Amino acid sequence: MEKAEIGLIGLGVMGSNLALNIAENGHRIAVFNRTTARTTAFAENAGALRDMVIPCESMAELAATIAPPRPVIIMTQAGKPVDEQIAALRDVLSANDIIIDAGNANFRDTMRRFNELDGSGLTFIGMGVSGGEEGARHGPSIMVGGTPESFTRVEKILTDISAKYEGEPCAAWLGRNGAGHFVKTIHNGIEYADMQMIAEIYGVLRDGLGMAPKEIGAVFAQWNRGRLNSYLIEITATVLMADDPKTGVPMVDVILDRAGQKGTGKWSVIEAQTLGVPATAIEAAVAARVLSSIRDERLAAEANYGPNTMARIEGDRAALLADLELALFAGKIAAYAQGFAVMNVASKEFGWNLPLPTIAKIWRAGCIIRSQFLGTLAEAFGKSASLSNLLMAPAFVTMMQEAHPSLRRIVARAAEAGLPTPALSSALAYFDSYRQGRGTSNLIQAQRDFFGAHGFERIDGPGAFHGPWGSGAV
Ligand code: 6PG
Repeated sequence: MEKAEIGLIGLGVMGSNLALNIAENGHRIAVFNRTTARTTAFAENAGALRDMVIPCESMAELAATIAPPRPVIIMTQAGKPVDEQIAALRDVLSANDIIIDAGNANFRDTMRRFNELDGSGLTFIGMGVSGGEEGARHGPSIMVGGTPESFTRVEKILTDISAKYEGEPCAAWLGRNGAGHFVKTIHNGIEYADMQMIAEIYGVLRDGLGMAPKEIGAVFAQWNRGRLNSYLIEITATVLMADDPKTGVPMVDVILDRAGQKGTGKWSVIEAQTLGVPATAIEAAVAARVLSSIRDERLAAEANYGPNTMARIEGDRAALLADLELALFAGKIAAYAQGFAVMNVASKEFGWNLPLPTIAKIWRAGCIIRSQFLGTLAEAFGKSASLSNLLMAPAFVTMMQEAHPSLRRIVARAAEAGLPTPALSSALAYFDSYRQGRGTSNLIQAQRDFFGAHGFERIDGPGAFHGPWGSGAV
């Protein structure tokens, strides 16, 4: 039998879909799963693609089935399982073969794996894949980290299987070692912020304006035709329109308000903090998921403080809806500004030279945060490679000038109504702090100098100074 071009380990939903996508694009693929029954079932269910799939019962068989130099994708749960697969692959692969980790790895693990494989003759690629199950099957966005040479060797397969935006593949080499997984992590951090801000707006519509799920769904569907056009807004509208087959009531109304998380959002925040880049909207989104998960405590607190009796927001509905749309847009701009600022600093810190316009471009289709907005963002970074923050791009200054008054009004109205908008509020506070020429840290410096003699700078000349604080008593 003709040898396979590539192999894949891990036939969970993502792995199976990616394998079928590869097969459908004309690349014969060898597949292996720890449980042989799953491998057999996968091959049996491959339908018209059966001939393009070679099921293998062992790692050795997998290696023997792929034409060297062999690229092998690992698509398992992130963490220890990846290390185990790499260890097993090392026994059966030979020089120049490429191990590709396509899971949601922590980029620090990816960096370690690069180091561990260094000198082994094997090449490693850390590859971020976004788009969920559907994306994996029909075209994800693919973020590659590794040597440019190793990318060149798998470029054809990866671009073939990736999503296309107006014909352009949403797959690219982004930098060495951990670059691909780092960018995927920040993608997910932004995804968290996007989702949280949408949920906050849903909360204002539900509790502030007293709207029913389907009415809210219709609002999101309408917004999806405008500046907010994106996959997440589209699915939000669809979700809000759905009914529970069991009870017949709107599906969202029977879903517990407790959200899970697997780690990428948290990693974004940790890395942002480590790099010294404020990513407050992302932080707020991660914290909101944590708060959502302590439901019993929230119910007890509600019993202590009593239900919110001031939630209703009065006013002209059309005007409020217009403000909500723009508020969400302004929040989105701030969240993306933060995510890209984190990547900008990480790029220098890790020597990746991340191509920010390319990143925005490969996120225009296939991935979870895909949107029309990313096209505008790609243009902004394309015009100025040295752009330190999206909020400084002329096109975004214009958009933010138009949108921030709405964000301000909505955050204020929501605060008065006792409706939580942590990500939107953080986005607003970030914007207000970022554009404030004279902030309030002069006082922080005075305090630091007072209790720790840390010194301060003066506005009227260089040098380090101490204040006339005396004994401290006023
Ligand atoms: C994607 C998604 C995908 C997945 C994450 C979300 O880009 O395709 O981000 O990677 O949905 O695991 O993670 P949480 O479980 O943390 O929300």
